[in-house]
Amino acid sequence: MVEVAKIVTLQHFLTVKKLQVEQVESLIARATFFKNGGAVPQFETPLYAANLFFENSTRTHCSFEMAERKLGLQTIPFDPSTSSVSKGETLYDTLLALESIGVNLAVIRHSQNEYYRDLVELTPPQKLEMGIVNAGDGSGQHPSQSLLDMMTIAEQFGSFTGLKVVIVGDLTNSRVARSNMELLQRLGAQLYFSGPRCWYSEEFAAYGTYRPLDEVLPQMDVVMLLRVQHERHQAEADFSAASYHTKYGLTEKRYAQLKEKAIIMHPGPINRGVELSSSLVEAPKSRFTTQMQNGVFMRMAMLESVIRGRHLGGR
Ligand code: CP
Repeated sequence: MVEVAKIVTLQHFLTVKKLQVEQVESLIARATFFKNGGAVPQFETPLYAANLFFENSTRTHCSFEMAERKLGLQTIPFDPSTSSVSKGETLYDTLLALESIGVNLAVIRHSQNEYYRDLVELTPPQKLEMGIVNAGDGSGQHPSQSLLDMMTIAEQFGSFTGLKVVIVGDLTNSRVARSNMELLQRLGAQLYFSGPRCWYSEEFAAYGTYRPLDEVLPQMDVVMLLRVQHERHQAEADFSAASYHTKYGLTEKRYAQLKEKAIIMHPGPINRGVELSSSLVEAPKSRFTTQMQNGVFMRMAMLESVIRGRHLGGR
């Protein structure tokens, strides 16, 4: 029998910063319940979601839409480039329009850090009743990626206590690193950072230790590679993909030094031959496809938590 997990309830799902360990554990348990074929909730009233992606996405966008469909939600198509945002309509006014026509949940990816703050701290007469789920804000937070990563690690190791995890690469620009360091520290993992020194800053020191990759790699349980975010770097003249791969990438030689039970993770999209050798994307220690599979079930758990937290969909 599939064990039913406790359901977390939230008004919005914006960041992992305020999530308690018990809530993370419940979300992992609930997502695992869905993954194992547990019954999806039957909502008593129809629910409508809109996915507003102001930055490009494949995984997160399609995964949220899959999660919505699996939960029985109706998804209202929204494309910023053909919407009235292109005529200057604000994000608040866009959501007001969507809410007025009956949308209950907005899943939003935006380039502005904490874009959601102005939407959830409104001054009357402005108000929004819809639930907001953050699908990534600038270099701030990526809650759904982080929680699916925690689910993937939990599946492999059962517990986080004492696990050695290194996050490698484009730290400065990474909402994945910022979300994962919060949760990994709270869950009891021992965290390291690596990659180019210029992409590390003291902001990360409260969460882990910066070390050269080749020094830490043989001791690590989890190697989390970050995408080099070319679109967020101003001047790229100095960047050499081949040089990055040699110095900081997971090459086949480095892969051979990993612990027997170690896993490698990447949020995607992968720059093949940069963060890791193309031949390693589907390697036995790679959890790249598992992360994407788990994302659907974790996003179901996250959407459900906001639906229940806002008492949408009946009982
Ligand atoms: N990991 C991630 O956010 O991928 P997408 O940009 O494709 O959504």
